[in-house]
Amino acid sequence: MKITIKALVLFGLVADLIGSPMPLKRVTVVGTGYVGLVAGACFSSLGHCVQCIDNDSEKIDLLRRGVIPFFEAGLEGLVQKNIQEGRLSFTMDIDNAIETAEVIVIAVSTPMSDDGQADLTSVLDVVQRILPHLHNYKVICIKSTVPIGTADMIKRIIREHVDSSISFDVVSNPEFLKEGVAIKDFMCPNRIVIGADSERAFKVMQELYFHFYDTHAPFVYTDNTTAETIKYAANAFLASKISFVNEFSKLCEILGADISVVAYGMGLDERIGHHFLKPGPGFGGSCFPKDMQALLWQAKQAHIELQVVEAAWQANQEQPMHIISKLIHFLDNDLRNKNIAILGLAFKAYTDDVRCSPAIAIIKHLKNEKAVIKAYDPCAMITMKKNFPDLVYSSTAYEAIQDADAIIILTEWPEFEGLDFKKIKEIVRQPIIIDARNVLNTDVLKKLGFRYSNMGNAHIPMNIEIATYID
Ligand code: UGA
Repeated sequence: MKITIKALVLFGLVADLIGSPMPLKRVTVVGTGYVGLVAGACFSSLGHCVQCIDNDSEKIDLLRRGVIPFFEAGLEGLVQKNIQEGRLSFTMDIDNAIETAEVIVIAVSTPMSDDGQADLTSVLDVVQRILPHLHNYKVICIKSTVPIGTADMIKRIIREHVDSSISFDVVSNPEFLKEGVAIKDFMCPNRIVIGADSERAFKVMQELYFHFYDTHAPFVYTDNTTAETIKYAANAFLASKISFVNEFSKLCEILGADISVVAYGMGLDERIGHHFLKPGPGFGGSCFPKDMQALLWQAKQAHIELQVVEAAWQANQEQPMHIISKLIHFLDNDLRNKNIAILGLAFKAYTDDVRCSPAIAIIKHLKNEKAVIKAYDPCAMITMKKNFPDLVYSSTAYEAIQDADAIIILTEWPEFEGLDFKKIKEIVRQPIIIDARNVLNTDVLKKLGFRYSNMGNAHIPMNIEIATYID
């Protein structure tokens, strides 16, 4: 908060902000993935006039009809409402959308290249498309997660191509939303990070985010490079926290401690906190794996060894094998022709996203070992079919479990917690459960005679906020 006030005073903006209604902006968002679409929908619901661009015509057709091409709770309603109220539109006409915009938000993907570095092709393509339209002042706001130094590089590219009399600003405004709760994260942010090097750019960004002055979300005003670094540091730290708890979970299994209480006990220290202390099959998704690789690549180029990040990454790579080793133990070292029911394919609950899901590594291994897999996920079976078209996908959890030699729970869907384990005991071939998300009540399983293993002997189901459960 100190940074906020200091920065405001520094740029003489306090007076401007008090009591003055903020002018609404004409915003163009380039890229309609999770980040772009959520940002577009949310900025429009704050009152701004937003155009979203994508080069995928099918996607634009769907979006114009208010259909969202992926699962994100609440997004469809928000998009439809803002289309109807005339603040949100979708187009492929990038030239017109850029020409008319005051703020251009770049939210295209920065996928991982083979060597780990972030591929900036799409970002740089957008910059090329912006160049001919820079006749009047515009803010180019980078929301995509980009390597540290990208904004400065973009400034140089633009400077080389446009007349020196033309003013523009490049702002680094990283996004911290989580899939599944993306709208809540956008509308109730922990912080808003704005990296820029001009008073004018800060002012435009304040106007874009004016709504959040009432919500007391801290604004962090800084330079572009620092803003870009905050994003990588936050993701790398959270990912390291998960690898840390996963390692302690293994220690608990060997030494007889209970990770649920360990996590609760350590989380009570305000410096540690309870978030991101749930052990599991390893972190996945479209962000942590990609961002850690990009960060490690960039650090290597800079001859800096990020040993902690590297270790967290390596530990995560090994985590799916920890689940497999439990299975091997229960099935006496022989997975061949064993019926394995996999419950949960998404990289986490409340999404249909399977990108870098630990389920992928686990399924690959089981297939190599000639196990017979039946999979079920309430949301992510269509997306997983693209990875494994020939897998047997069941329409219910019970169908997947029928005649199973072992059940593995890989995603913390609430549905799994509510399964009837008495019934399950009657339909399985062997009563074996590996709960890689600690969603099940171990007392119930024990009473029913299941052989089970969870992460770190957790006695308390960890999909419930652990503090709430114990208090
Ligand atoms: C992550 C960050 O949390 C967001 O702040 C960030 O904006 C986003 O990446 C991004 O860079 O775009 P997301 O990938 O949606 O968001 O997913 P998370 O909820 O962070 O979960 C990531 C992985 O960690 C999942 O596989 C999840 O199951 C795992 N996880 C998370 C655990 O294993 N244990 C935990 O305690 C928490």
